[in-house]
Amino acid sequence: MPKEKPELNDAIRKKMSEKPREKNPINGTKFTIAISSAKGGVGKSTFATNLALALRNTGCKVGLLDADIYGPSIPKMFDINEKPKSDGQTLTPIVKYDIQCMSIGFLADQQTPMIWRGPMVTSAIKTFTQKVAWSNLDFIIVDMPPGTGDTQLTFATDIKLDGAIIVSTPQEVALLDVKRGIKMFDKLGVKILGLVDNMSFFIGDDGKKYNIFGEGGVKKTAEEFNKKFLGEIPINPEIGKCGDKGKPIVENNPESEISKVYLEFANEIKSTYL
Ligand SMILES: Nc1ncnc2c1ncn2[C@@H]1O[C@H](COP(=O)(O)OP(=O)(O)O)[C@@H](O)[C@H]1O
Ligand SMILES: [Mg+2]
Repeated sequence: MPKEKPELNDAIRKKMSEKPREKNPINGTKFTIAISSAKGGVGKSTFATNLALALRNTGCKVGLLDADIYGPSIPKMFDINEKPKSDGQTLTPIVKYDIQCMSIGFLADQQTPMIWRGPMVTSAIKTFTQKVAWSNLDFIIVDMPPGTGDTQLTFATDIKLDGAIIVSTPQEVALLDVKRGIKMFDKLGVKILGLVDNMSFFIGDDGKKYNIFGEGGVKKTAEEFNKKFLGEIPINPEIGKCGDKGKPIVENNPESEISKVYLEFANEIKSTYL
């Protein structure tokens, strides 16, 4: 399956040499925030869904845009099985848990591999940002695919992106990709709100903290690039189970300690913009 490759330099240089153009904000939305990482499987979609719900819990109107065309996660994580309605011009987002959602997975069979070429990815992203009837939103949270490819470029160059949050796990291999992601957003002039250390540690039955993937790597990377370190989220089997069941932990158990961690991230974002 073709994946977006981290060959950012030529593509970005080309974009940078072009004249700055008017960027389109997403209709019906005040602020667009991307959840990104250069690596897959670090917990972007899990973070994006729980952050969206936590922002809603702070009283914001929130949309969730699944920009992972090759591997959409929102249909599963929000347990959405219906197709969005269309009037021939615009698609109506599906509202679940009081959040307006859109994903390629609503339109295509989830089992069908998406063998899409770059330009088709770009046009899908443009459809989702310009032809969806998003309504009266404070924030759209964009769940990005891994990598530094067409989707990131389209958002950064054609669409108004107000900020990006970079999620990583603390392993060296993940951090290498994170550095590439930071450089891309910096070059494209997208504000990086900060870095999140996901699956940072595990608390055993003995109550002890285990740093399974090493300690402090994400924070160190944030410092190295002069970015904010937003905080850490432990490995918690409940997070995974709730996502698999289609009801993220912030919705399933808003009073849990882990949901409070997501709420802190949400409050920080809300106070940054509103
Ligand atoms: N903090 C966490 N604790 C436990 N499991 C997690 C955590 N964050 C993510 N996961 C699990 O890791 C897997 C990958 O997460 P996902 O959000 O799909 O990553 P990505 O979108 O970066 O590919 C999923 O099974 C998810 O449930
Ligand atoms: Mg994902």
